[in-house]
Amino acid sequence: LRDFPLFEHLDDEYLAEISKLCTKCTFLKGESIFFEGDEGDELYLVISGVVQIYQDNRSRDVILSIFREGDFFGEMALLQNERVRSASARTIEKSTLCVLKKRHFIPLVKSRPEILIGILGTALDRLRDANNLITDLTILDVRTRIARMLLRLTEQHGVPSADGMLIDLKLTHQHLADMMGTARETVTKLLLELQNEQLIRIDQKKIIVCSMDRVRNMLDSH
Ligand code: CMP
Repeated sequence: LRDFPLFEHLDDEYLAEISKLCTKCTFLKGESIFFEGDEGDELYLVISGVVQIYQDNRSRDVILSIFREGDFFGEMALLQNERVRSASARTIEKSTLCVLKKRHFIPLVKSRPEILIGILGTALDRLRDANNLITDLTILDVRTRIARMLLRLTEQHGVPSADGMLIDLKLTHQHLADMMGTARETVTKLLLELQNEQLIRIDQKKIIVCSMDRVRNMLDSH
C-alpha cells in the first residue's frame, strides 16, 4: 500500500492496520468486477494489472478511464447517497486488487481526514479530465481526437523509450475506439495513417509516440 499516492503520508504502523482490513482478489483478463447500477460497498485499490471503467450503451462501450497499479476506484458508490455504481469495471489484463469494505473505510477516513482530501483531489482531477473529454468529443474531428487521446495516454501511462514515448498498455483497436467514441475501423485506419507518417510505431501491441511535438502540432493546427 506504500506505493499508493493516497497513502504515501501514512506511517508504517497505520498502513499495516489498513492492509489487515483489506482483502486481496485476483481477476482474470477480461473479467468483470462490477456493473453500473449495482449496489456498491467496496473501494478497490489496484495492486497490479489494468482495469477499464466503462459504460455500455446498447450498441457499444464507452471507456471513461483506465486504471493501473497505485490507482483506486469505487469511491463514488461509497460516498454518494445513491450507493450504486456509476459505471462498470472490467479488467484489461489479469489484475490483483485490494478490496476495502465501506464499514472499514468510513472509520478510516473519519480518523484520517487527509485520506478523504486525497480521494477528493483525485476525483476532481477525474472530473477535469471528463470535462476535457466532453469538449473533445463535441468539437474535434476524429484525427484530432486520436492525437488528444495519444497525448492523454502518454501523460497517464507513458514511459520513455529509445524511439519516443511508449504507452505501456496493450490496448486493442476496439479499446481505443471505445475511448474516443468512434468505430474500430476508423481507429485502424487512423493508426495506419499515423504509422505511415512516422508519428507512431506499434511494437508488441503497444503504441510508441515517436514525436510528441508532431502529435501536439496536430492539435495546434486544428
Ligand atoms: P463507483 O461509481 O462506485 O463505480 C465506478 C467507478 O469508476 C466510480 O466509483 C469511480 O471510482 C470511477 N469513475 C466513474 N466515472 C469516472 C470517470 N469519468 N473518470 C474516472 N473514473 C471514473
